[in-house]
Amino acid sequence: MKRLFIYYSRTGNGDLVASILKEKGFEIEKVETIKNPIPKSFFFSMIVGGFKATVGMSPKIKELAVNPELYDEIYIGSPIWNARFATPTNSLLKELKLEGKKVTFVLYSGSGTSKGASKKISKLYPEARIINLKEPLKYKEEAANKLSF
Ligand SMILES: Cc1cc2nc3c(=O)[nH]c(=O)nc-3n(C[C@H](O)[C@H](O)[C@H](O)COP(=O)(O)O)c2cc1C
Repeated sequence: MKRLFIYYSRTGNGDLVASILKEKGFEIEKVETIKNPIPKSFFFSMIVGGFKATVGMSPKIKELAVNPELYDEIYIGSPIWNARFATPTNSLLKELKLEGKKVTFVLYSGSGTSKGASKKISKLYPEARIINLKEPLKYKEEAANKLSF
C-alpha cells in the first residue's frame, strides 16, 4: 500500500505533521507557491488570507515532484484559513484526481476543531476522512496521538 502525504504549510505546522507521517512510511510532497500567497505580517496575513480563502482563490503552485496517481491512499494536509482550505490547497485540489482513492484530509488550525471547515469539506468530499489538529507545532503529542494508526 503506497501512501502519500501531500500538503501545504506556511508557518511550519504542516511540516511537523509531515515529519510524523514520514516516520510511518508515507512519502511526502510539499506544495510550494510561486509567490507568497499572503503578506508576511500577522495582521495583513489574516486580512488578506481570510479574504482570499473566502473567495476561493488558488495561487499558482510549482510543479509537483511526485505523481499522486501512483498512490493508493492520499493524505492531504492543509492549514485552515477563515474556516476554509488555505488557498494553495485549492490549487492542489484542482490538480489532483481523487476518484477511486482513499482520501484523508489532515487539517491544522488554531482552534483544532474547525467545525465550519470540516462541514464544508465533508460536503465537497463526502467519502473523505478528516483529522483535525490543533497547532501541531505547539501540541506535538496531541498531533502524534491523533496520527497514531
Ligand atoms: C489567513 C489565516 C486565516 C486563519 N483562519 C483560521 C480559522 O478560521 N480557524 C482557525 O482555527 N485557525 C485559523 N488560522 C490559523 C491556522 O490555521 C493555523 O495556525 C495553522 O496551524 C497554520 O498551519 P501552517 O503553520 O502549516 O501554515 C488562520 C491562519 C491564517 C494565516
